[in-house]
Amino acid sequence: MTRTAAPSLTAKDWNGLYASGKATPRLIGDGESRSAHSRLSLVRDMRAVDLGCGTGKWTRQLAAWGLDTIGLDFSQVALEQARAAVSHARYELWDIDSNATPGLLLPGSIDIVSCRLSFSFFDRSRLLPNARRWLTPRGQLYILTNVTDPHAGNLSPFECGMSEEEIGSLGSDGWHVRDVFRFNRRVGIVLQPSGSPGP
Ligand SMILES: C[S@@+](CC[C@H](N)C(=O)[O-])C[C@H]1O[C@@H](n2cnc3c(N)ncnc32)[C@H](O)[C@@H]1O
Repeated sequence: MTRTAAPSLTAKDWNGLYASGKATPRLIGDGESRSAHSRLSLVRDMRAVDLGCGTGKWTRQLAAWGLDTIGLDFSQVALEQARAAVSHARYELWDIDSNATPGLLLPGSIDIVSCRLSFSFFDRSRLLPNARRWLTPRGQLYILTNVTDPHAGNLSPFECGMSEEEIGSLGSDGWHVRDVFRFNRRVGIVLQPSGSPGP
């Protein structure tokens, strides 16, 4: 399978993009929030982590739905901007690919692991088994991604994503796809660990 190349950006690169205003988070439309809310089985006070949260727009949406939400990102600048907005969401600095797992991610402790426009940047061979470990028995991994042509060159950081082939390959290796929904050129995917009791 050809894996779509996400630009290889360091935390320093992302800091520069956020500081200059060049990393402009995409707005969260009503369609996106409504679709995600209706497809994820959400219950107040569930614990959620938003990986690669950037300036925290989606993290705040999860918190506004009553979830106990922590946003994690390796860009200090993005997190400063996230913390400036009023919300119950909390934020922590973490390099998801390289640093040790923070203590808050105990096995079986998280109901929703969310990756909005961030999954394609992470090392999947590390993240997917980790996410399976962190999730509660009915926990869900939510991915929102752009659908991209694997041969498209020079996409901006907010345009890159996954090819149809990569999206189709997600329901393997210990996961099953509970739901997929499409709008514009994006796909939302809800995954659960194989053998989990369902919603
Ligand atoms: C395209 S942005 C999406 C931001 C946010 N989720 C949104 O929807 O606006 C991708 C984010 O992933 C973060 N990121 C990329 N690699 C990371 C890593 N290894 N550890 C933590 N965060 C990372 C970047 O700093 C950036 O904020």
